[in-house]
Amino acid sequence: DRERKLELVKKHINSYPDFPKEGILFRDIFSVFNDQTASEVLQELIADHVKSIEKSVDAVIGLESRGFLFGPQIANTLSVPFIPIRKKGKLPGELVRIEYSLEYGKDVIELQKDSLCGKSSVLIVDDLLATGGTMKAACDLIKSCGVDVAECFVIMELSGLGGKSKIPAPFHSLICYD
Ligand code: PRP
Ligand code: ADE
Repeated sequence: DRERKLELVKKHINSYPDFPKEGILFRDIFSVFNDQTASEVLQELIADHVKSIEKSVDAVIGLESRGFLFGPQIANTLSVPFIPIRKKGKLPGELVRIEYSLEYGKDVIELQKDSLCGKSSVLIVDDLLATGGTMKAACDLIKSCGVDVAECFVIMELSGLGGKSKIPAPFHSLICYD
């Protein structure tokens, strides 16, 4: 049953060669939401997984932007708060930030300083793991605040890029592309 559901979701993830640059095979999560059944089935798969996490989770962290499609829903499923991590310059208030390397150059992600107050262990969610640079930076940022990362969870993992080995926390993906 789970395998059948995963196949249905996979069938609705459109792939675009050479987007946004030559050599990238872009996996478009939005095409799943264009099919109501696939969208609901994905929601069920996510809920089943997050309810099975054994470590305690007292907040869900979503990574901009496609992590925001799943974070609040997962937070509601687990009855915990949702907290965004955003690219630089987008969040108001007092922030903590971390710089990380991209394929070319550097970027910065930020978190509101008070958002982790009273939290000891979080679940981080995004749509996709590629090189792992974004997820690793998010883990490092959260750990630098003295908070444990119970799990990093993505819908899609591009395993050929080896990103998983960079992640300093337990990692889970629903769909793995070679
Ligand atoms: C994509 C994706 C992940 C990240 C994965 O986001 O949604 O957040 O890249 O890549 P990595 O594992 O190599 O770090 P993108 O930077 O395209 O931003 P967006 O979601 O705001 O479009
Ligand atoms: N982010 C990084 N690599 C990606 C890919 N191949 N498809 C969708 N989002 C991505």
